[in-house]
Amino acid sequence: MSATTPLRLGSIAPNFDAETTTGPINFHEFIGDNWVILFSHPEDYTPVCTTELGAFAKLEPEFTKRGVKLIGLSANTIESHGGWIKDIDEISGSQLKFPIIGDKERKVALAYDMIDHQDATNVDSKGVAFTIRSVFIIDPKKTIRTILSYPASTGRNTAEVLRIVDSLQTGDKNKVTTPINWVPGDDVIVHPTIKTEEARKIFPKMTVVKPYLRFTPLPKEDTSANV
Ligand code: BEZ
Repeated sequence: MSATTPLRLGSIAPNFDAETTTGPINFHEFIGDNWVILFSHPEDYTPVCTTELGAFAKLEPEFTKRGVKLIGLSANTIESHGGWIKDIDEISGSQLKFPIIGDKERKVALAYDMIDHQDATNVDSKGVAFTIRSVFIIDPKKTIRTILSYPASTGRNTAEVLRIVDSLQTGDKNKVTTPINWVPGDDVIVHPTIKTEEARKIFPKMTVVKPYLRFTPLPKEDTSANV
């Protein structure tokens, strides 16, 4: 299994079988009818990754309420992950329950192009490139909806990942897009494909700033954050 064509937004998430800390999985079966966030880490027992996994574990209930399953990946064995999870829970006060893939051979990392090509120092003791901090947000049709890539030195922002989920799920349901720094409850943008005449019927409170920039209120209760 390797990435033959680059993964883009709209690509079907490549399927794979893997060992995880909660048992073996087939990725497409794991997705089932859910949204999934697949995120990678360079290595076990590393400081930034430890803080990230604790934060994802503590925010997991919010993802679950939105029908989103979490699954991590790190380029070590599941036995190694098991010991590390105890540290993560001790340090973060979390109870990490979601699976972490044991990707020692980098099979999944290669299929998802999670390998670091830029930072030559981000290598293991044998000089093999580590995974970077990738995030893939995948919808129930197994379509990749978001790809984020962070360098090993920069921890991610779990609130931002949740915000993207809210934007995607709310946009799918309401024919809207979300502006810069939007959070649920803020005004949204009427989808550019809807003609203004029709938009006025669907969104009676719409404000036209420019013909191509039309805002409408969308109360938090009408977003995916209303859970
Ligand atoms: C970390 O998680 O702290 C880390 C891992 C690999 C390289 C640099 C930092």
